[in-house]
This record gives sequence, structure tokens and C-alpha cells, in this order.
Amino acid sequence: RLPEPFTVPLPIPEVARPVSPGRYEVTQRVAAVEILPGLRTEVWGYGGTFPGPTFELRRGAPAVIGVRNELPVPTSTHLHGGVTPPESDGYPTDLVVPAGYSSPHAHPGEVRHQVVRDYRYPVEQRAATLWYHDHRMDFTAPQVWRGLAGMALVRDEEEDALPLPRGERELPLMICDRAFEEDGSIRYPHAAHHAPGHSGGGHGGGGHGGGGHGPADDTHALDADYMEGVEGDVILVNGAPWPVAEVTATRHRLRLVNASNARRYRLRLSPGGRFTQIGSDSGLLAAPIVHDAITMAPGERYDVVVDFSAYPPGSEITLLNTLADGPAGKVMRFVVTRRAPDDTAVPATLSRPPRRPRPVATRTFDFRRTNDAWTINGHRYRPGAPLARPRLGTAEIWRLTSDFHHPVHVHLAHFQVLARNGRPPAATDAGWKDTVDVRPYEVVDVLARFDGHRGRYMLHCHNLEHEDMAMMADFEVV
Ligand code: C2O
Ligand code: CU
Repeated sequence: RLPEPFTVPLPIPEVARPVSPGRYEVTQRVAAVEILPGLRTEVWGYGGTFPGPTFELRRGAPAVIGVRNELPVPTSTHLHGGVTPPESDGYPTDLVVPAGYSSPHAHPGEVRHQVVRDYRYPVEQRAATLWYHDHRMDFTAPQVWRGLAGMALVRDEEEDALPLPRGERELPLMICDRAFEEDGSIRYPHAAHHAPGHSGGGHGGGGHGGGGHGPADDTHALDADYMEGVEGDVILVNGAPWPVAEVTATRHRLRLVNASNARRYRLRLSPGGRFTQIGSDSGLLAAPIVHDAITMAPGERYDVVVDFSAYPPGSEITLLNTLADGPAGKVMRFVVTRRAPDDTAVPATLSRPPRRPRPVATRTFDFRRTNDAWTINGHRYRPGAPLARPRLGTAEIWRLTSDFHHPVHVHLAHFQVLARNGRPPAATDAGWKDTVDVRPYEVVDVLARFDGHRGRYMLHCHNLEHEDMAMMADFEVV
């Protein structure tokens, strides 16, 4: 019952409307939506949609988002890329629990907000493409897989002043893969090591999996079904399978977000074409960079301009994923409708990003599989036991090493990639970022700045199954 690719129109998630100036309210709930034509799919969505609403934020305009949890499970919401105070950063044991939820299995230090809580975002950061998603301890992967993710765009005056495509010519594109059962329900593998009766614990994703906790020693256990992370055979863009979008023969700005649990994409345009990258995870680049292909790991964002005037009206331009064959090798299609006036441009100078500060320390974080967990510096995740204490207002070199392929994400801090295996980084590593793909046996040096807030934050693998299998660590900005 999968649709022919490029037949479902590209949906654009609704923009969240404030209930009062600077205040938003969103309810996480179970909803039946149509993802595969003619079938109902139950999702867990912010606002009952998948993706959730897009938050349009402005630098210097603080926002409060009140989250109400009407799901059967606890949640924690993280604004990925946000420079957020620690209380609102979506720490994995800082939970919003639904009415009637009770579980005696609490993590040490667990905080339970009853049903609702306010997340406070100062939005003192540069214009950038952010996203938000669930971050609950041990259950991030199955809960995001069921739909708990959406986009947030920060805008500012520096960006406003640029003649970039906007309005209908600016498309937020949240890309993720999912798997479905015949009846349209979302399929997430069951944990084989869970005996019947324990289906609510561990990584159980079936039914309303995650409704309770398994025995403490079950969580974080390595499980073959999840070792590489979970991938699906259906590629969704903004929640629609292999959608199609009509575009005029003009420049368009594409805000690419890889919201997949574990899948990487190498994006290319067919029958040819180029991406002019204008922004990275954490904001506009100093100057545009032209790419023939862009590789995106989970958590990464690329802000690009594609000039469809290069194609005659009637052309079909397919966005491919050259890392996969078959269905997962296709992402979406653009159909060029007609010529239209275009007064946009990609200026040679885009912004004045913060300069690279001088590092005051170097630390190594080794991402490695041990017998019983995915670890950082030999430790499975221990909430409240920071591996590093960088000082507010300083910068450090963080050397990320790995025995496997791990997209490494740092909360709060933005960084620049300095080197891969001692050599200059890739062209797609440019700019300030918060997520970097560390390849097997690679050594990636990043220069991270610790600005904005003191307190408890984390770094982790953004392969969400690895994250749930303990590949996280705290650090504390002091
Ligand atoms: Cu996008 Cu800690 O996560
Ligand atoms: Cu990983």
C-alpha cells in the first residue's frame, strides 16, 4: 500500500500561533493522520501533527512554550540548537508526565512535572534552522519515531537584510525515514530480550510501548535489533512519503533537517543541479558554498538555495539519496511550473558569524562500544556525573574519537569543525554547528564555545538508538 513516489503533495507544517505575545501552548497527543494515502496512522504529535507546528522565533524576543502532555508516556522536550537555560533544555530525566501516570521506577534525580510545564527560551542567538524533539531517558528513539518532532526557525535583522527567497519560496523540509505495517500503523522493532509482560519497558515500541519502565538492568542494554539504529524504508518529507512540490522557475530556499533516528542521506539533484549552502546548523555562513551533494547525518541541518530557473518549465527535479538503493534512494521531487520574476539573490557576503575564539583547553571524548553499552570515555550515561566542566565564556577543543559511525551532538555550545584525522574538514563541515558526523575510526577536532548559560548540559550520539543505549554524557558549564 505504499504510494507511487512523487504523487503526494508536499505539506508545509503549520506555523505555531502565540496565545499571547511570546507565549505558545502545544499539546502532545495521540492522533490519527493520513500518511500513506487511504490509511490511518496513529502518531504521537506536538499539537497532534507530525511534524509538529513550526515555531517562528526572533532573536531578542524570548518565547515561552507551554507543553501539555496527553500521551500515555512521559516526555521531555529539547530545542535542538537552542542556547537554552538548563532548566528548559529538555534534560532526559526532567519529565512532563501525563495525568494518571505512575511508575515506581524513577531514575535518580528524576523530576516529574504534572501534565504541563513551561519551557523558556531567551532566543538570544543568531538566525538559524533549529528543530525540537522528545528527549526522554531511554525512550527518545521510539518516541521521536512515533512523531514527536518539529522545526523552529530563528530569524534576525542580519538575515532580514539579505535578498534571500522567502514566503512560498522558503521551504522547511524535515526529512526522516519510517516503517509501516500493512494497516498503516508505524512499525518500530520490538526488543527481543523482553519477555512477554515486560513489553512496556526497555525499548518496547509496540502498542503503547514505553508506558512503564522495565527492570533497571534492562535499560541501556545492547540489543542486536538496534545496534545500527533503526531505519525505515519509507522516506518522509514533512511527514509525507516521497512528496512532490510545484515550484516556479526561481530561486528557492530549502531548510533541510535530518530528523531520522539513524539514517544518513547524501542528497543530490537529478538530472543535475547544485545546492548553494547559505547556512549550517547554527546560522548563516560568512559566504555561500556551492555543493553538488550534501551528506546529512541525523540531527544536522543545511540551509541551501536551489535556483530552479536553471530548468525549463515542465522539468521534474528529483532529490535523491545516493547512500541508498531502492525506495530509500529517493526523497522528493520538484516540478517546475512556469517562469516568474525573481528579485532574490545569494550575496557573496551573507553574515558576520562570531570569530573563532582561542581555546583554553583540549579534551577528548571517545565514542565506543563496549560489551554491554555504547559508551563515552568508557562510561554509559550517568545523569548528574559530568565528564567536563568548561568555563562560561571560554572555548575548548573537543577531540571526538570513535570506533563506529556516530553523529555527535552537543547541547548549548556551538562549534566549528577544525580537522578530520588531522586534515582540513570537508566543505560541508563549514560554519558554526551543533552536530558533526564522526565516521568510523575518525578523529574530529571541533572548537566549541560555551556561551549563554551556566549549568548542566549534555553531549551524545544523535543516532537515537545509540542515545537510548547510554551513549550520552553530561557536562557542566561553570
Ligand atoms: Cu537533537 Cu540531545 O538532541
Ligand atoms: Cu552512535
